[in-house]
Amino acid sequence: MQASGENGRVTIAANRHAAGAAAPVDPGLAPCREMAAVDIRVNDDGPGIPPQILPRIFDPFFTTKEVGKGMGLGLFIVYQIVEEHRGCVSASSEDGRGATFVMRLPQDGEIAHAYE
Ligand SMILES: Nc1ncnc2c1ncn2[C@@H]1O[C@H](COP(=O)(O)OP(=O)(O)OP(=O)(O)O)[C@@H](O)[C@H]1O
Ligand SMILES: [Mg+2]
Repeated sequence: MQASGENGRVTIAANRHAAGAAAPVDPGLAPCREMAAVDIRVNDDGPGIPPQILPRIFDPFFTTKEVGKGMGLGLFIVYQIVEEHRGCVSASSEDGRGATFVMRLPQDGEIAHAYE
């Protein structure tokens, strides 16, 4: 929501990912390719993420916000939470055409069952 501004649009979608689904996946999701999972996809229509920045956005304290505005911890925390759930997270963007984040959370295990 910060990235896309006041009149921006953020969409959130959830889809099941079948075990062993062979469709091409973002590199960040590759380790979670084989498992039954739920994909939670968050997309915005903001400025997008330049390719030279994309590999660093999950690093702790990486921010492009001006001094005092951002800690650079938001996506690092996202990464850690997803990791604790044994899932995967990926970010993709075509510069100038918004950003898309996918969190792939395994369907097995107690937490997943609690929501079945
Ligand atoms: N949806 C997005 N669109 C464009 N760039 C993004 C988006 N999300 C993250 N970024 C880039 O990734 C950087 C790191 O994001 P992150 O959420 O970790 O930190 P932050 O938003 O800068 O600070 P904090 O979340 O701690 O307030 C941002 O500074 C920005 O450059
Ligand atoms: Mg943030």
